[in-house]
Amino acid sequence: MMSNTKKLYIKTYGCQMNVYDSERMVDAMGADGYTTVDSPEQADMILLNTCHIREKAAEKIYSELGRYRPLKDANPDLKIGVAGCVAQAEGEEIMIRQPMVDLVVGPQAYHRLPAMAAKAGGGVQVLDTEFPEEDKFEFLPRGTKAKRAPAAFLTVQEGCDKFCAFCVVPYTRGAEVSRPAERLLDEARDLVERGVVEISLLGQNVNAYLANDWSLARLIRELAKIDGLERIRYMTSHPNDMGDDLIAVHGEVEKLMPYLHLPVQSGSDKVLKAMNRKHTAAEYLKVLERMREVRPDIMLSGDFIVGFPGEDEDDFQATMELCEKVRYGQAYSFKYSPRPGTPAADRAHVDESVKTERLHRLQALLTSHQVEFQDSMIGRTLPVLVEKLGRETGQVIGKSPYLHATHFLGEASDIGKIVNVKVVATERNSLSAEKV
Ligand code: 5AD
Ligand code: SF4
Repeated sequence: MMSNTKKLYIKTYGCQMNVYDSERMVDAMGADGYTTVDSPEQADMILLNTCHIREKAAEKIYSELGRYRPLKDANPDLKIGVAGCVAQAEGEEIMIRQPMVDLVVGPQAYHRLPAMAAKAGGGVQVLDTEFPEEDKFEFLPRGTKAKRAPAAFLTVQEGCDKFCAFCVVPYTRGAEVSRPAERLLDEARDLVERGVVEISLLGQNVNAYLANDWSLARLIRELAKIDGLERIRYMTSHPNDMGDDLIAVHGEVEKLMPYLHLPVQSGSDKVLKAMNRKHTAAEYLKVLERMREVRPDIMLSGDFIVGFPGEDEDDFQATMELCEKVRYGQAYSFKYSPRPGTPAADRAHVDESVKTERLHRLQALLTSHQVEFQDSMIGRTLPVLVEKLGRETGQVIGKSPYLHATHFLGEASDIGKIVNVKVVATERNSLSAEKV
């Protein structure tokens, strides 16, 4: 290895958009002579790509930074950067709370990261949390032609105009912006040439994707024509943007996996209104019903918030009832966490102990449905996209159409292939299978 190679350690928090952004930051820094390493101890630069969605997520960043103190003391040339949504939301605050941070870069300014990194350090702190006019993706260098893992993310849309009363995303990621379809199709072809078999289209409001005449439905139809691309997914969607055409695509395009992540947050119309969701529980259920008509085998996934300001026991029961009706195969649930600057932050809050107790009840129900769905896979033959070798010898691990991690006895040559396997058992969060 060349002695002047610089080493970058990047740690990613939060959603898949951050995973994608981190890959692109690695590409950008790679063009500047950085290679990645697996531990902060080896690094010349540490970059935290952060999440601000809930309070705990932000606090985690400060404690992680604290852990780097001895590294910085031992090596004053070490550069420490904070990227992502905490960077956007807290900006200069971060440098005040943690003076050893050399640079703070918001999610819309990643293309400027190499220039910032060159400037920062030795007491110089650099901050960029602008929402620039230019498209950051346009200015980020493409990665090398190096082989890629079989499943990849592709950010097609960023930002949110919905302004749910609890959510920081419209403030940290800005307004909805869709990337041009031609560029996405190019990037997808490039990924497939590099060994990618499955692409997950990402966006905070991915189903609001609209670029010139291109809707998400049209983009999916066009992507499906790419030879070698076998699986398409998209996330995260808003119920109000599940248009007729997009629903229809689920019945038409076989490469579109039978999985839909469609957060509802609450089953109570009163709470939905207070959340500014702009739909009722019945309207949400109607969308799911129509999805199930065109794709009866679809697995549904959702997000829930319990203890939103004003939520009483009846409202919470409405959420439980909605879950009973839908029977999600997978779901995420959270206690409401007030985010500074969002409308709900100043309202009267539900008691922490009530939030905790409701979360436990909801999670018990959601887990029982998840287990039920997983167990219904036993005995079924499923096509699994093999992604990597397992920890036990001879074992390979991949994903079922429903995103279940699935392991079975296979060979290294299975990686990147879709293999039919029969599910023999379920574990906590995975399926155990045999080749058929
Ligand atoms: N408190 C709790 N959960 C939140 N989410 C977003 N903002 C908050 C908040 N302030 C949850 C929502 C969203 C998911 C990504 O995170 O359920 O769908
Ligand atoms: Fe946040 Fe609501 Fe936008 Fe989703 S739709 S990113 S929850 S404001």
